[in-house]
Amino acid sequence: MVGNCCAIRGTFFDFVDDPWKYEGREHEAARFTRDGLLVVKDGLVVDFGDFAEVSPRHPGLSITHIKNRLILPGFIDGHIHFPQVRVLGAYGSQLLDWLQNWIFPEELKYRDRDYAREAAKHFFDALLAGGTTTCQAFTTSSPVSTEEFFDEATRREMRVISGLTGIDRFAPDDFCITPDDFHSESERLIERYHRKGRNLYAITPRFAVGCTSEMMDRCRQLKLKYPDCWVNTHISENPSEIRTAREHFPDCADYTHVHEKHGLLGPKFTAGHAVWLSNDEFRRFSKAGASVCFCPLSNLFLGSGLFRLGRATDPEHPVRVSLGCDMGGGNAFSIIRVLEEAYKVGMCNNTMLDGSINPREQDLAEAERNKLGPYRAFYLATLGGARALYLDELLGNFDKGKEADFVVLDWNAGQTAMRWHQSLITHNESPENIDQAAQLLFGVMSVGDDRNIDETWIAGTRAYKKAGV
Ligand code: GUN
Ligand code: ZN
Repeated sequence: MVGNCCAIRGTFFDFVDDPWKYEGREHEAARFTRDGLLVVKDGLVVDFGDFAEVSPRHPGLSITHIKNRLILPGFIDGHIHFPQVRVLGAYGSQLLDWLQNWIFPEELKYRDRDYAREAAKHFFDALLAGGTTTCQAFTTSSPVSTEEFFDEATRREMRVISGLTGIDRFAPDDFCITPDDFHSESERLIERYHRKGRNLYAITPRFAVGCTSEMMDRCRQLKLKYPDCWVNTHISENPSEIRTAREHFPDCADYTHVHEKHGLLGPKFTAGHAVWLSNDEFRRFSKAGASVCFCPLSNLFLGSGLFRLGRATDPEHPVRVSLGCDMGGGNAFSIIRVLEEAYKVGMCNNTMLDGSINPREQDLAEAERNKLGPYRAFYLATLGGARALYLDELLGNFDKGKEADFVVLDWNAGQTAMRWHQSLITHNESPENIDQAAQLLFGVMSVGDDRNIDETWIAGTRAYKKAGV
């Protein structure tokens, strides 16, 4: 075999389908390969399966054997803010005040190329340390920030989606960009970066509160001219934001209507948060093939509310869902911590819908769909996120032809109590079956954090190794 080739032997866990379709038997959506071999050539999976079957097909290949670990596809973050690294976890305010007090002043610094370049290094280092190999990211209204984002992603060969982030009101004058400048700079950046290497471009109106109708029209024009591009925005995060959006777009019946009216709601459209969407809005997202991004760290940190995962996963009108840390509204880069918070949100919603206070409020099916067991959780972090972002033909599991980004989990790392906690499930060096593996993964998401990320690999090359191990 010619080309840049490598093979990894170890215990693999990935998904072939959506576990919400397999209630009570979620393992049928997953694939557990206890002693597996992943063969990678030029960054792509060329063979995968049981070691005993796959290895004879590749004689002479040098093999990296990763023992006592679980290897999963790299985590996908559907909503994160590159220019907020330095202000993550800022004290004290809800969305609109927080933007004015903390976020816009910090993001303004990204006009400075040196500052943006240094920040990009911190950003991608932190992502990889959390096991995230692909993200959809906001930049700022300065093209410099978008260039530095894509240039650093290119150096690291990471699959990313991003774009110049448009805002022409509700921010200091020197932070706003005119619709004309936004349009011409977006075009220039699309030509320069979209589908160059692993970069993908998202037309990015920041949110309806910060975008005039004219700005939204420019976004529509861009999407018409570049239909292959993604669209990334925020929706219905916070009640004050929703009221303000209503005032700004009085002719729109609800927040989703703003995006429908401007021709943006459809495939490859992602709206972060979606905490307060009505049932009807969820149905329209489903019909349009648009996706929402569940950002529990941020929704809790900024006090925005509880995303209704059980509603989004309604089998009659399923909406594509990815997970996002939304750093810096979210106070960590870690998708493992996102899963922990998502689980807690699901438990609260489960309680609210289970009818224990008012039986008339009972919706047991929706209540159940809120519960985030390990199969559903790690599906959203991998293949589910890829499907939501329309990336599943490229990545999301270990199928042949996919990009070989993966994460190596140490289920015993983290809190001092972790090893003994996990020994309840297995004393052996690796889990014996899919159920044990899933239980270990639940231990990681409920008790763990990014200390459980031992290694992160990009396109078949190790890009991160935890220090001291
Ligand atoms: N809405 C508009 N901009 C932002 C942002 O930077 N973070 C969050 N969480 N919501 C937003
Ligand atoms: Zn956001």
